Amino acid sequence: MVKVTYVSHDGDKTTVDAEEGASVMHTAIANDVEGIVGECGGAMMCATCHCYVDDAWTAAVGVRHDEEGEMLEGASAEVTERSRLSCQIKLTPELDGLVVHLPEDQI
Ligand code: FES
Repeated sequence: MVKVTYVSHDGDKTTVDAEEGASVMHTAIANDVEGIVGECGGAMMCATCHCYVDDAWTAAVGVRHDEEGEMLEGASAEVTERSRLSCQIKLTPELDGLVVHLPEDQI
């Protein structure tokens, strides 16, 4: 199990246990975490799974790829250098304790 903490736009924190190999998006949906929609189911065809990787975790998570960056251009909230599509972040043991912040809205 890998722990992930989601921090809402209001600062509320929800920590859940995730399956290794699951995405940050799927883990949020499976645990009823509000603030991630995941409309396309992880096919990278929407940007409703936008999240901001916590500063402490950006190096471990790595950089987004070009296609992901293009899709993020359609995100409704501000895109920053910490922005990622949460469906593209797969949870590995190295990411145990990961913290992601959620935008004010996704649509
Ligand atoms: S769920 Fe659609 S791009 Fe991530």
